[in-house]
Amino acid sequence: MPAPYIHGHHPSVLRSHTWRTVQNSCPHLLPYLTTPALRILDVGCGPGTISVDLASRVPDGSVYAIDPSASVIDTARRHAVDKSVTNVRFEVGDIYNWRALDGVQEGGFDIVHAHQVLQHLQDPVTAMREMKKLVKPSGILAVRESDYEGFVFYPDDIPGLHEWKKLYIAVARGLGCDPNIGRRLHAVAMEAGFERRDIDASASVWVFSNPEERQWWCGLWADRTLQSEFKDKVLESGRGSVEDLKRIAEAWRDLERREDGWFSVLNAEVVCRVKES
Ligand SMILES: C[S@@+](CC[C@H](N)C(=O)[O-])C[C@H]1O[C@@H](n2cnc3c(N)ncnc32)[C@H](O)[C@@H]1O
Repeated sequence: MPAPYIHGHHPSVLRSHTWRTVQNSCPHLLPYLTTPALRILDVGCGPGTISVDLASRVPDGSVYAIDPSASVIDTARRHAVDKSVTNVRFEVGDIYNWRALDGVQEGGFDIVHAHQVLQHLQDPVTAMREMKKLVKPSGILAVRESDYEGFVFYPDDIPGLHEWKKLYIAVARGLGCDPNIGRRLHAVAMEAGFERRDIDASASVWVFSNPEERQWWCGLWADRTLQSEFKDKVLESGRGSVEDLKRIAEAWRDLERREDGWFSVLNAEVVCRVKES
């Protein structure tokens, strides 16, 4: 049974996730997408915009994408149809239970990929171990996760945004997850059985600063704060009230209005090489 997912799949959440592409979310993967016949597994694919982009980059290969949420898998399938991409397969599935999936075998994929998934799991080491099993000898496991403590913004004098960060981290930890896993992804990979010399660790940031970027990012977080699963998780945790959430949503609107506003999201990546057996 997957852990309760803090964001859920409310439209305000999907507005964020459907923006994602290989270019803006998988810079660490680009050097590996050099042959068109790769077989890729996308774990925790959400609405599938990254999966479909990956599939379009491997026209002689294929992408198998899984997520435990049936509703988001429907959204992803519709996206593939809209983009006329046919070499992608979306299935409801859970990384801890991949043996239940038709067509997923040990050593079956050149690249196993997960974007912003391990931070939502209670046992990321086991998840990585399972993902490692699915990589072909000489293939790679590539994971990218954010690190909430590393998010910084300007101006720094918007108290509601500090409150949001503290609250988000506390609620995620209360669910048994690590919202700051980015900084220790390489250590998680080592625990999952990779040797340090077989792991490349890097980081990259998203920056939201110009008026359109602020309107989009701050607007969706204002909505997520008041409407998505995050609101329910905050209230259930007893760590915040509806009044607190309203103040936080207003802080996001404040940053959106500030012409000098700037927000950055720290993302860490690991590319782990699986050896020839
Ligand atoms: C933050 S979203 C990321 C979606 C997508 N990778 C992206 O970056 O747009 C995290 C996703 O992980 C999925 N997830 C949660 N637990 C999972 C598990 N045990 N196995 C696979 N996916 C899982 C959630 O349903 C959710 O869609």
